[in-house]
Formats: sequence, structure tokens, C-alpha cells
Amino acid sequence: FAQTYNEIYRPQYHFTPGKNWMNDPNGLVFHNGVYHLYYQYNPDGNTWGNISWGHATSTNLTHWTEHPVALLARGYPGELTEAFFTGTVVADPQNTSGFGTNGTVPLVAMYTSYYPTSQTLPSGKSVTGGQQAQSIAYSLDDGYTWTTYDAANPVIPTPPAPYEDQWRDFRDPFIFWHDATKKWISVISVSQLHKLLIYTSSNLKQWTLASEFGPLNAVGGVWECPSIVPLPLDGDETNIKWVAQIGLNPGGPPGVTGSGTQYIVGTFDGTRFVADPDPLSPAPTSTEPHGPNWMDYGPDFYAAATFNGLPYLSHLNIAWVNNWQYAGVIPTAPWRSMMSIARRISLKTIGGRAVLIQQPMADVASLQTKTYSSSFATVAEGNQLIPLSEKTLDVTVSFSDRAAVSSSSQFGIILRATSDLAQQTRIGYDFSTKRLFVDRSKSGNISFDGTFASTYYAPLEPASDGKVTMRILLDWSSVEVFGGQGEVAISAQIFPEDNGIDAQLFSSGGSTGDVTIDAKILGSAWGA
Ligand code: FRU
Repeated sequence: FAQTYNEIYRPQYHFTPGKNWMNDPNGLVFHNGVYHLYYQYNPDGNTWGNISWGHATSTNLTHWTEHPVALLARGYPGELTEAFFTGTVVADPQNTSGFGTNGTVPLVAMYTSYYPTSQTLPSGKSVTGGQQAQSIAYSLDDGYTWTTYDAANPVIPTPPAPYEDQWRDFRDPFIFWHDATKKWISVISVSQLHKLLIYTSSNLKQWTLASEFGPLNAVGGVWECPSIVPLPLDGDETNIKWVAQIGLNPGGPPGVTGSGTQYIVGTFDGTRFVADPDPLSPAPTSTEPHGPNWMDYGPDFYAAATFNGLPYLSHLNIAWVNNWQYAGVIPTAPWRSMMSIARRISLKTIGGRAVLIQQPMADVASLQTKTYSSSFATVAEGNQLIPLSEKTLDVTVSFSDRAAVSSSSQFGIILRATSDLAQQTRIGYDFSTKRLFVDRSKSGNISFDGTFASTYYAPLEPASDGKVTMRILLDWSSVEVFGGQGEVAISAQIFPEDNGIDAQLFSSGGSTGDVTIDAKILGSAWGA
């Protein structure tokens, strides 16, 4: 992986493979002190194809080391007979699978086998060209090399009745250990029907259908990459909720063309996931869903996945910072796509509802090169330069809410700007509509897709002290913005030219009070 990692647009503290195409994070697992990140990967080029599982590891979620491909598409190089689509990894310390030998703890992966051609497999099972089925593989060296379970794969060959006709769109198993019932659980999407199927198993090999869930709330496009995780509400471990995370493509948040991710808060008893009624609207039904909750209101946060192997109620997500709308044509080379910063998720009651909180877990202390802090009793109407002429930042800006005098009452920060503002990325708050926004319409190279040059909005109420807070992670080709306590996020790719590094504050429709800026200027996570 002899890359220099300093090409224009190369993320400096977000994971990218040295070269080639990447999509969904897969098999996130924390095992023996190491975070493993597998991912949908083309070993042979910068567009989707030859889908294999790439592999990287980290001990701090910020510095990543890339390893050889973990599951190489079968038939590659040449005519493929099996591609390895999205899935999950668990450690099996009790060796329920029997894959462990001599006391070794096996890691077991469950993934979607995609068979391009009709064939009879080593297991004797026949599959049809275009079929998606669930298979397993195991590793006896802590995740570095893998053996597919050819004796019986695919272990779930087709969707059950009455969904047999969905064999082309049956994918993305999310597996985890459910301690209360002492069972493995697998959540699998019947994508076109907006359904999740829940299976249980005692050995990761034989699976029994337990229940189904959906459609509910956002049902655009297909449902993909589901997961369900337990989280205490407001930190109360006697009040555990389960949160389903579901990718939709296309069918993202309002204003986003293409992919997006929703979450649904509910309960899970080991067999059935049931959505909670929304306290602010009537109980959801499939015809009258309550409003969708978006994990991220930006265009570039998809296929969110969560780590196995952390303490029971502790969850970290990583998502693909891209969008199927334009993923294949973003102007990066020799790699395409980055992962999000790992985000710790929790559940908090805000405005009478259980809301998912996301907090970025970048180990920025280890990357910090300089800091900049400043406060202003008032920032006058207009623009004002600030000394943050940088390409990698972790900056928190807070300010007082104010009455909106017009529809253009806004405050925020402009990053990656040229001095004439012909190029700029605007991150701010609109006081009249109480929305956080990211405007990338002039963010640099925007021409490769007609929908790219847009502004994205997330609803955000000021905190009880009347303050609005936004934390912005800027990297060479992305911004991830967290509003308030992390109750909303907006993630967006940007492709600015290198000559634009100015930063400015802007206040429109009046002055803005109690402004504080706390910035860490970050170095690169690549190299030593
Ligand atoms: C989501 C997805 C998954 C599938 C994978 C294929 O981005 O479409 O549903 O498993 O990508 O690469």
C-alpha cells in the first residue's frame, strides 16, 4: 500500500483504502484490543465491481492500517462466481459454531453471497444467476485470514415464504449475540419490500426465522444494511430501548437525492422488534407511519454499521461517506470513497421523544498540531475573516439564538474559501426556520453530478440556555457537522481547490451574540 496519502482530496484522518473503490463498512468488530474494519472493495479498480472484503485495523479509531483483502471475490481475476456483499463479524468465544480448534476463539462472518451465474456449489446447493443468499466464513487468526464454510454455504439460500420471489434482493445480514435468550440473531433485509427478517441460531450455522418487521416510516427506494442495537434511554439501564438503523436508497432525507439512513426506536425480546409509538403523533401503522428519524441529514452518510465486541450497551457506528447518486464519479483517485469518523451513539429524551445522539470519536488529541480559541460578545452583520486557514479542523462554534428579522437571518462559518468567495463551504444556522445547514453549492468541484451543488438542512432547537452549538469536523474532502448535543448531524463531501483555505464568520439579517470558537487544527493520521 505504497501511497503517499497527500493527493488532492485525500482524507487525512478518515479511513480510505490506499487505492481502489470502497463502499459499505462491513464486519465491524472490536476483538483483542483491535478495531477491525472490513469494507466492500474492488481489488482491481476505482469503480464498483469484483466485490470483496477489504480490511483495515486500528487501536484508536483514527490511525488505520490496511491489510490484504480478507475475502476475495471468487473467480477473481477473471469471471466471478461469487461476490462478497455486506455482512457482519462476531467473535464466538464459546465456540458455538465449532469452528474453533485447540481453544482458538473463532471470528465468524455472515455476509451476502452474490452469485452472478447459475451454478451448483461445493455444498451441493444450486443457485441461480443474480441470487443473493447468506453465507458464513470463519477466521482462526483474529480476523486476518478467512475460510468460507463451503460444506454448507449458503446457510440461508432464499427468503422464506411468502417472499420466495425476492431472491434477488435479500441481503446484508447483521448478526449479534443476544445474551438474554442465549441466541445469535441475524437481521436481514428483503430490500424491495422494506422488510427486515429476524432469524435466530444457536450455532451460527442453522438459522430459524423468528419474525419480520416493516415497512415503517421512510420507505423510499430499497432497504439495505439493517442493524438493531440496545441503548439505555437517558442512561437508565433499567430502560433499555432497541434502535433499528436502516439504509434507504434512493430515499434519503428531504432535500437529499439518493441514499440516506433512518433509525426507529423500539423494543426487542430476542425474537421480535416492535417500534415504539411516537409520543408526539399517533401510534405508527404501515399506512400512517410517524415521521422518520434521520441519522444524518446530509447526502453522504450511508450503510451505517455498528461494532460488535464492545460492552453490551456501548455502540460505535461507522458509515460510508458517499451516496449512490454519484459515488462512481466523485473526482478522487486512485481511491474512491471514505469512511465516517466513528460515532458513539446514545439515546436521550429531547423535546418529548427518544432521540439518537451521535458523538464523533476521532482521537483528535493525537493529531492536534495547534489550537485557536476566540470569543466575541457580538459579531456584526457581514463577514469577518478568522485565522482558521486550514484543511483539517475539529471546530466547535456556539452562539445565541436570536429573533429572525428576515428569512435570511443566519450565522455561521465559511470554510475552504477563496479570498473572493467564489469557492466556499458554508456551515451555519438559520434563525427563522431553526435549522442547521451545510451549503456546498460553491464548494469546489461540483460539476460531476447535477444534484451535488446543494444545501442540506437539519431541524435543531437551541439548547435550554438559548445557545446553538455546532461541531464541525473538516477533512480534505468532507465536513461532518454535529448540532446541539449531537441530536442531528449533516455529513457532506466537498472537493475544494487547494487555493481556497480562508475561513470567515458570517452573520446575516443582524448581528449575532455570545459567539465562541474552539478549534483544534489537526495533522495527518497517515504515516508514523
Ligand atoms: C449498500 C449495498 C448493499 C450491498 C452492497 C454491495 O450500499 O447495496 O445492500 O450488500 O452495497 O456492494
